[in-house]
Amino acid sequence: MTAQSQRLLADTSAIDTPQLIVSEEIMQRNIAEMASFAKSIKVQLRPHIKTHKCLEIARLQVAAGAVGITCAKVGEAEVMVNEGGIDDVLLAYPIVGPLKYQRIVTLMEKARIAVAVDSTTAIETIGRAMAHHEREIDIYIEVNTGQNRSGVMWGQESVKMAQLIDRHPNLRLSGIMTHEGHVAFADVSQIATEARAAGEKMVETAEMIRRHGIGLKTVSVGSTPAARITPAVPGITEMRPGTYVFNDSSLFRFGDTWTVDDCAARFVATVVSRTADDRCVIDAGSKTLALDPSKAHEGHGYIVGHPDVVITRLSEEHGVCQLPAGEQGFQVGDTVEVIPNHICPTVNLMDQMAIVRDGKVIDYWKIAARGKVQ
Ligand SMILES: Cc1ncc(COP(=O)(O)O)c(C=O)c1O
Repeated sequence: MTAQSQRLLADTSAIDTPQLIVSEEIMQRNIAEMASFAKSIKVQLRPHIKTHKCLEIARLQVAAGAVGITCAKVGEAEVMVNEGGIDDVLLAYPIVGPLKYQRIVTLMEKARIAVAVDSTTAIETIGRAMAHHEREIDIYIEVNTGQNRSGVMWGQESVKMAQLIDRHPNLRLSGIMTHEGHVAFADVSQIATEARAAGEKMVETAEMIRRHGIGLKTVSVGSTPAARITPAVPGITEMRPGTYVFNDSSLFRFGDTWTVDDCAARFVATVVSRTADDRCVIDAGSKTLALDPSKAHEGHGYIVGHPDVVITRLSEEHGVCQLPAGEQGFQVGDTVEVIPNHICPTVNLMDQMAIVRDGKVIDYWKIAARGKVQ
């Protein structure tokens, strides 16, 4: 395959850069493949919308069979429910504070909202808020299966939290959830083992909770690098991948499982400076590509067709590229397509994405929940 054929846009003359572009074909394929995988293992799919924050894409995921969506923040859920008509949302994030519960109660008029908790403070505050509004809410316990971010430890600590929730008249313990995000950073040889172990810890925790006479329906996991492994552990009932809808260059370290042709979202950027033979600047800096590093390759993004060019440095609007000796391309005015290291934070920086079909932009979709971090 030539470098040119891997680019999504044959002609960029009508594109003002930097511009986020999304291949409709690759995105639809990613959505369909994950939906069909979830169906094949009889696990419900609840995609995390943090990756795209876009109403049109959330609707495509639901149309492909998702039971609902996952959000982190209440603000994202407000956009998805109020503007997108999504009627089933898990807030897979420790939601803390009476102001947020007030907003959740309002949202519950229009949609089923479930909230993740990992502290007694959150349980008490949300319990009080629901009692005050005479409502009951579905709760997931966030469980730590190895990521060591938020989440109570799997096993006995999670059981204690389940008992606390079970005693509260306004809280319904509906599930447990984990983000097995540590799998993404594991040594490649260990990925399958770690992904399976996270699932087994979840299933064991669910069984311990059930042995205490507490009904627990949902055992939920979520991570794109682990998406074909953890959810397949018998006893897992729900999966919440997010990144899979676009994919990104950090996934290239997992061998051939993900390639350039699986990456639906890229930035078109223009070379705006070439003041040295071995250096140029593209108009995509940290305000476009975000600063997340990649374990897959050097630099701040993968330039399609030019794996030997490294984006060594980002300032806000400058992407400084190291060029190999004798590089004849990358002249001022040329354009490139860059696959970001981590697609999710970059999408959050943009107002809209250009949808590409057959090498042409056919539409612009709003990133409606961008910046909704409250
Ligand atoms: C709680 C939670 N669930 C699911 C996901 C989806 O993971 P991924 O983006 O690897 O698909 C994330 C990602 O950050 C997350 O934080």
